[in-house]
Amino acid sequence: MLFLGDISYEKLREKTVLLRAGLNLPLGANGRVIDDFRLKKALPTIRYLAENCKKLVIIAHIGRNRDISLKPVIDVLNEHISHYDNIEVYENLRQDPREYSDKESDRDEYAKELIQRSGADLFVQDAFSVCHRNHASITSIPKFLQSCAGFLIEKELLELNKALNPLRPSIFILGGAKFATKEPLIRKFLKLYDKIFIGGAIANEFFESRGYEIGHSLTHKSVIPHDILYNENILLPEFVSVVYEDYEPPVEVKPKDILPEMKIVDVTLPVDLFKNEYASVLWNGPLGYYEAGFIRGTDTLLRMLHGLRRRDPDACIITGGGDTLATISAERRNIFTHISSGGGAMLTYLEKGNLPGLLALQIQ
Ligand code: 3PG
Repeated sequence: MLFLGDISYEKLREKTVLLRAGLNLPLGANGRVIDDFRLKKALPTIRYLAENCKKLVIIAHIGRNRDISLKPVIDVLNEHISHYDNIEVYENLRQDPREYSDKESDRDEYAKELIQRSGADLFVQDAFSVCHRNHASITSIPKFLQSCAGFLIEKELLELNKALNPLRPSIFILGGAKFATKEPLIRKFLKLYDKIFIGGAIANEFFESRGYEIGHSLTHKSVIPHDILYNENILLPEFVSVVYEDYEPPVEVKPKDILPEMKIVDVTLPVDLFKNEYASVLWNGPLGYYEAGFIRGTDTLLRMLHGLRRRDPDACIITGGGDTLATISAERRNIFTHISSGGGAMLTYLEKGNLPGLLALQIQ
């Protein structure tokens, strides 16, 4: 795979570059950007290209709805790049359904149009967070134009490869929901990591599969295979927080003692979870129903990770994913060695060791 840094300044100076950036930022109810984390991750490549190429055209998407405009993101981006006069940013790629069409011919047609409209003679792929998608701007453009990976993709691969080769002892902390979609990753990581701690709604599925009552708790009713369900290296919460009715303060119970009228909203971490002084920690997924304010479990995890960071400045602590990021305040982000800009892309890369968007760059 060709990387942006491999292209000489002389060559770049003559190029019109089409850059696919990952700018899918969360918007608040007022339509304004509420977290510019991904934008900041995209800036090094944007600045480098603006300074070193002839003209830069940036393409990106936002949300899943055809009507959403990229304008609020462009406004924030402009605060960082308005002093360059060689940058153009196009509207939300997903306003054209050919971007995500199931038909390869539609996607290819859209890709060719984008190349023609921009007049680009080089494509730089830097939208790591979308590289798990078979979209026009991800897998089609590289078929028709010389392409390379930008600085963010290069950094993501470097850091996520550390997560795939953890130092020992190591722990993988998995929250979020839907065991079925995470089973291949859990299987792979049982071989790579010393321990796996399960929280979030996935823990509910473990309790349910063990035959416990889980009341009204969120579940996708996965049947968890016996070798995972009772695996000695998989740790489950010893206590959970439950509510009887929404808006009530939660109470703590043992998972075996849940009643039909209860609902699990958070987990309590074992106090000795970090007794092993882990050298590598990988975390994905909130541990509780954080959207409704149940963040005690996740907050305890962040305190434990902060303690680990203080005791061991060399510990490798990696996280990623939009929901996970939403639970980490700006001051706490420096606990982590790396925060991936990808959610689904990060998990797919960790599970499969590659992504369609990266393979598309390799065929050149
Ligand atoms: C993300 O937000 O994880 C990426 O931008 C991909 O978005 P998608 O899940 O809507 O394809």
